[in-house]
Order: sequence, then structure tokens, then C-alpha cells
Amino acid sequence: MCRKTNIAVLISGSGTNLQAIIDACESGKIDGKVVVVGADNNNAKGLDRAKNRGIPTFVIDYSQIIKSFKDNQLPIDFNLKDVLSKQSIFDTESDPEKVKLFMMTRSVAEEKLFNTLSSFDFDLLALAGFMRILTPYFIDKVNKDRMRIINIHPALLPSFPGTDGYGDTFRYGCKVGGCTVHFVDYGEDSGPIIGQKAFEINDCDTLETVKEKGLKLEWELYPHCIQLFEKLYHHR
Ligand code: GRF
Repeated sequence: MCRKTNIAVLISGSGTNLQAIIDACESGKIDGKVVVVGADNNNAKGLDRAKNRGIPTFVIDYSQIIKSFKDNQLPIDFNLKDVLSKQSIFDTESDPEKVKLFMMTRSVAEEKLFNTLSSFDFDLLALAGFMRILTPYFIDKVNKDRMRIINIHPALLPSFPGTDGYGDTFRYGCKVGGCTVHFVDYGEDSGPIIGQKAFEINDCDTLETVKEKGLKLEWELYPHCIQLFEKLYHHR
């Protein structure tokens, strides 16, 4: 039998999905192991969840990197033209200068992110409440032979991409909400769907109860989808 899937996880906040993944690895629901947890900010509470289990952690301080960006920091393998031609996060209406600056500043953070992650020999990169968009520069470096970055999104994609899936679902007046695990591609929450779970939204629900219902399902869905990835790709 081959070794377990090495899972790297990126977070920005409380890390309840990270906890669900760690627990599922420990209980054998996932034939894998969380080998490293990274965050985009020092205050991500979920880092303690990893530390409590002896999992290595690191922080790439995106805000600081973006604030202090200078052209001469661009990675030598960064190709702006290539990245701009691939990305579908911004549409043609967007200010081209802002789009360029976005891609350049992110690439500086992403080079550090990639170099740090690389030393952990990961098979799968799971975004768990990671509130940063990854650019084609980073995605291509990670994917190489196949898609290996996945994300959990708090809505039934392709409806309600973006940062507030449960809020958008609730405010729209949907009678059903849900969560989605998908591969990460060059767009925003637009990659191929791996799995979804749905719940009913009743008249008595509030945004809070919608979020509670959704998160509970996320904690089941994410480990399930990681195990699917494991079965599909990770030779046994
Ligand atoms: C989840 O709802 C996830 O879908 C969204 O951000 C939230 C993160 O929660 N992207 P947690 O940090 O896993 O507790």
C-alpha cells in the first residue's frame, strides 16, 4: 500500500473545517494526514488547532506584503502576460491597472507560500476558509500534472460565488442553501464541483441559523470529498 495522502491546509480564520479534516484523518475517515497548515494572517485562530495536534504551521502575511510591494520583488518566474491571459477572476470591465497590481502583489505572497508548502511534499492543498484568491501563477506551480487544489464554498455553486455565500443565499430568499467542495481553477469559485450538500431554509431561520446549518454540513462534506480525491488519485 502507498503512503497516505499528504494534505496541506490553508486557513484565514477559526479553522472549524480544518478541525473536521484533522479529526477525519485521525479517525480513519480520510486515508490521509495533515502535514502542514498555513494562514494568510497571524491572528488566524485555527493555527492553534494545528499546533494542538503537533502539526507544523506557518503564516504568510498577505496584508504586509501587499502594503510594501515593490516591482523588484516580483518572482523571476512570474509572467504577467501569461497570468493575465489565464485569469478569469476579473472581467473586461475591470480597471486593467488594478488587475495588474492585484496579480503582481499576490505573486509575491504566492511565491513565499509555494516555497514554504513545497518542503512538506503535499499531494493535496485544501483551502478551508482561506480568504485569498489564488492566481494562475500559483495554481500552475501547484497543479503541474493535475488539479490538486480544492476549496469549500458556503453556497450551492454556481450560485453565489464570492465571500459571503450564506449571507447571499439568505438575503436572496432561497428556500434551500448548501455548501460545495470544488477544484480551484483560474476563476472565482468556478472550478469543477466534487460534492455538495443542501439544507432547507425555513421562515423561522435567521442568518445565524443558516450559517450554523451550513457549517455542520461542511464538516461532513469536506472530509468526504477529500476521501474521494484520495481514492481517485492516490494509488492504493
Ligand atoms: C466556511 O463557511 C467556509 O465555507 C468559508 O469560510 C468559513 C470558514 O470557516 N469559506 P472555518 O474557518 O472553517 O471555521
